[in-house]
Amino acid sequence: MEMTREKAWDLFSQYVDSESLIKHSLAVEASMIKLAKTFDEDVEKWSCCGLLHDIDFQKYPEQHPIKGPEILKEAGYPEEFCLAVKGHSDDTNTPRTTKMAKTLYAVDQLSSFVVACALVRPTKFEGMKVKSVKKKMKDKAFARAVDRDGLKKGAEELGIELSELTQYVIDGLKEREEELSKMGMSLI
Ligand SMILES: [Fe+2]
Repeated sequence: MEMTREKAWDLFSQYVDSESLIKHSLAVEASMIKLAKTFDEDVEKWSCCGLLHDIDFQKYPEQHPIKGPEILKEAGYPEEFCLAVKGHSDDTNTPRTTKMAKTLYAVDQLSSFVVACALVRPTKFEGMKVKSVKKKMKDKAFARAVDRDGLKKGAEELGIELSELTQYVIDGLKEREEELSKMGMSLI
């Protein structure tokens, strides 16, 4: 099957209409796009992977993220793609063997965390510094749903400094936010 963002969006829309999940999915997609460009990988494929990674979360929360890869397989997505989605949660015990799988795991929670940081800044992503994001990581009361050890583990598995990864995520989200705002949408 030809993997296009348009097809991914059609499938995504069949399973997700929750505003918060749409925003989270778009944010993870934005980070995946940025990292695909950085690593010189397939941008369209990584974009689809980011967008679709939580496709089961709204309709099948009890089966997340087992059901998602099944939906994707059914829709014709390749094994490697489905495994990356399955592996984005430690609960499935699925080894992350590809760069795309490792990146998805590393940016999933980190993207949400950076969005949470933007929410409490008047200028949102504009002028956001890695240093201030890392400071917030040390503040246990802030965005407490985000597991800090998971953030470190994700960067480690990917073989990149968490600070460097955070910079890519900030840049990716900022760029995407500018594009989305022209369409009357927002990651925040
Ligand atoms: Fe996610």
